Amino acid sequence: MNVFVTGASRGFGYTLCRALAAAGYHVIAAARSKDRLELLQSEYPSRIVALQLDLSDASSIADAIRFVETECKAVDVLVNNAATAEGVGPIWELDSETWHRVMMTNFLGHVELTRDLLKGMIARRSGLILNVCSLAANKPLKYLAPYGVNKAALKHYTLCLAHELHEFGVRANTIGITADTDLPRDHAVQKASLGYTQSLERLKMHKLPPASENIHLALFLISPAGRYITSQYIESHSMVVRTW
Ligand SMILES: NC(=O)c1ccc[n+]([C@@H]2O[C@H](COP(=O)([O-])OP(=O)(O)OC[C@H]3O[C@@H](n4cnc5c(N)ncnc54)[C@H](OP(=O)(O)O)[C@@H]3O)[C@@H](O)[C@H]2O)c1
Repeated sequence: MNVFVTGASRGFGYTLCRALAAAGYHVIAAARSKDRLELLQSEYPSRIVALQLDLSDASSIADAIRFVETECKAVDVLVNNAATAEGVGPIWELDSETWHRVMMTNFLGHVELTRDLLKGMIARRSGLILNVCSLAANKPLKYLAPYGVNKAALKHYTLCLAHELHEFGVRANTIGITADTDLPRDHAVQKASLGYTQSLERLKMHKLPPASENIHLALFLISPAGRYITSQYIESHSMVVRTW
């Protein structure tokens, strides 16, 4: 089975790719950082293929689709996981370029990728789109408007996908994660530089769980055991959600 994972160069995506390869899946690991992807590929050379992809660049997405068509033939599962931590600040100070960049990386790039990879899934009458979301989709978090707006869009987009794909045997689910990765740290540091230090203080007091504690839900949904589950939003590590 072929699994395409975006945001594979570090954090949750990196950990998920390693676990998928160890479990016998073939993985297309996509992100911008070539060196990190090559390191990942070197661990499982027969199971992981590194693919450079910049989701904020339409031509890079088109190249990735061409790569899949020529090199892999079928993608059975697409994990839309990549996200940028850019775009932190008071709403009245965020310019439209920032909004566009965050929208491309965190939402519209994934919409593009999904549209193209879905065609094969629909034809084969099976497949899974697994979108990685956030609690920021459900409630406003200070100075993170572009991030939250795009996660809310991704969450609703997943419901729309599940609704329209049901008759074709293709599933769509959303997972949330809570993990000690660059992204929450980047957000907290940027907020602190704007004078809002609460997130950074909370991160220092309550260390977030490692990415490895967040992968089990994704592995389950990708596995045959998850094949009857669609249209769901589930948190991967709800033990820490209240603290966070
Ligand atoms: N960590 C948490 O507690 C938490 C909480 C809620 C939701 N999430 C979500 O979980 C997912 C994974 O995040 P993470 O915590 O693992 O963050 P991370 O460690 O910062 O990883 C982000 C990944 O996205 C990739 N990326 C960033 N910009 C990109 C672009 N323009 N094109 C392609 N790839 C790009 C990065 O790779 P390159 O820089 O190499 O491109 C990297 O692999 C994200 O969707 C995030 O919103 C995380």
